Amino acid sequence: MSCVVYLNGQFLPLEEARIPVMDRGFLFGDGVYEVIPVYDRQPFRLEEHLSRLQDSLDGIRLANPHGPEKWRELVARIVAESAWNDVGVYLQVTRGPGPRDHPFPKEVRPTVFLMPLELTAPAPALVENGVAAITAEDTRWSRCDLKATSLLANVLLRQLSVDAGCAETLLVRDGQLMEGSASSVFIVKDGVILAPPKTRLILPGITYDVALELAEREGLPHAVRPIAETELRAADEIWLTSSTKEILAVTRLDGQLVGNGRPGPIYRRMLALYQGYKHTVMRGKATE
Ligand code: PDD
Repeated sequence: MSCVVYLNGQFLPLEEARIPVMDRGFLFGDGVYEVIPVYDRQPFRLEEHLSRLQDSLDGIRLANPHGPEKWRELVARIVAESAWNDVGVYLQVTRGPGPRDHPFPKEVRPTVFLMPLELTAPAPALVENGVAAITAEDTRWSRCDLKATSLLANVLLRQLSVDAGCAETLLVRDGQLMEGSASSVFIVKDGVILAPPKTRLILPGITYDVALELAEREGLPHAVRPIAETELRAADEIWLTSSTKEILAVTRLDGQLVGNGRPGPIYRRMLALYQGYKHTVMRGKATE
């Protein structure tokens, strides 16, 4: 389906959007991105996404081409032009065109691109039954905290799970659980929710923050600490979180049942809290 996108100062149909082949985003994957969920045309946690965008830009030493007000305006227009009420706003900034040479070009003209992605909530059957995942050694670089467009390792790792008929690949580095190829990961053991700490080796997930805030608010036992692969394999529950998946239970890991093979009670509690929170925030915004 056609949609209206934004490219370097212009709103235009997707089919008409063009970038030069010398764009460093194309040649080097030299850029960063965000995916901002929008429910009923209201962006969810927009400020947090814009702040993570700033961190990613700082991390790759690329000046932010826009201030927060302009970003809000661009996101709002993409949402307004979109045919869908629920949309993921995909936003990308690259270091722009230049000679095919690794160092930054002398004059940087960043490429700014935004497009709407249809945001469909996970199918009820997946929420009800959970999904299958596999594990793999984390082959990514050592700055996974930056939301960089150079996602080749993530792409290859995600494909492993597709090849295995699974929904996600959980990444293990030096015997420790990191995250999924495109999601954050939580485990539950003996009633305690456990999350890997935010280091340079994982993306600081916005949905991860929401889940931890809700656990804190509701007094659900939780801890942020390194999680060993052995703990992952012995977990009572495993969850995936992301802006597009929200919160999903992993009920099968590498072909073995997780817990009793059904989404667990703490998952159900967290999902209800998450949905409640989301609706409260959205209602609040709608009446602002
Ligand atoms: N991915 N970890 C990785 C490696 C991710 O790619 C993502 C999100 C997350 C979850 O972050 P958040 O809760 O902020 O969405 C964690 C997005 C959705 C994507 O690349 O499409």
